[in-house]
Amino acid sequence: MPPAIAPAPAQPGLPILIVPDQRLKTRARPVGPADEAKVRALVPQMFAAMYAAPGIGLAAPQVGALLRLTVIDLMEDDKKHPIVLINPEIVAASEELATREEGCLSLPGQYADVTRPARVKVRYLDETGAKREIEGEGLLAACLQHEIDHLDGVLFVDHLSALKRNMILRRLAKERRQAREG
Ligand code: NI
Repeated sequence: MPPAIAPAPAQPGLPILIVPDQRLKTRARPVGPADEAKVRALVPQMFAAMYAAPGIGLAAPQVGALLRLTVIDLMEDDKKHPIVLINPEIVAASEELATREEGCLSLPGQYADVTRPARVKVRYLDETGAKREIEGEGLLAACLQHEIDHLDGVLFVDHLSALKRNMILRRLAKERRQAREG
């Protein structure tokens, strides 16, 4: 997810996949013990790509790694608070819903209101392999759900009506075509 106020400069380093890349629609597999070296190498690269974008969340499929791994940093108080979530799972969600504007680094420049549970509890492994839980509301709740969706090949536009989704996808395609044509 990009921050609320998002300029969109170039992205150095690991390229972030853009819709309609099929890897963004693919369910990622759980991280296992054999993935340790890969994850250790990938996490700093994902943070670098996310901070450079700039964004507040990035899921491994967005950089072409079909693993259940995501990084988040809401940059509260303009300070870094990086969180690595390996095999994250939503174990509780509030009945109360909340609507926020969302965007996605894989749909640059596109934003829409998305309604989701207002609070969630997520179980995950941290970068040391320790079992952790995080409870979030507000922006954190939306970000956790948005990033975990990516691991199931779900994008924020998939929560919208077909009409709204197609409008956004057409606009993105048009803007990218215009950017390429200069
Ligand atoms: Ni996203």
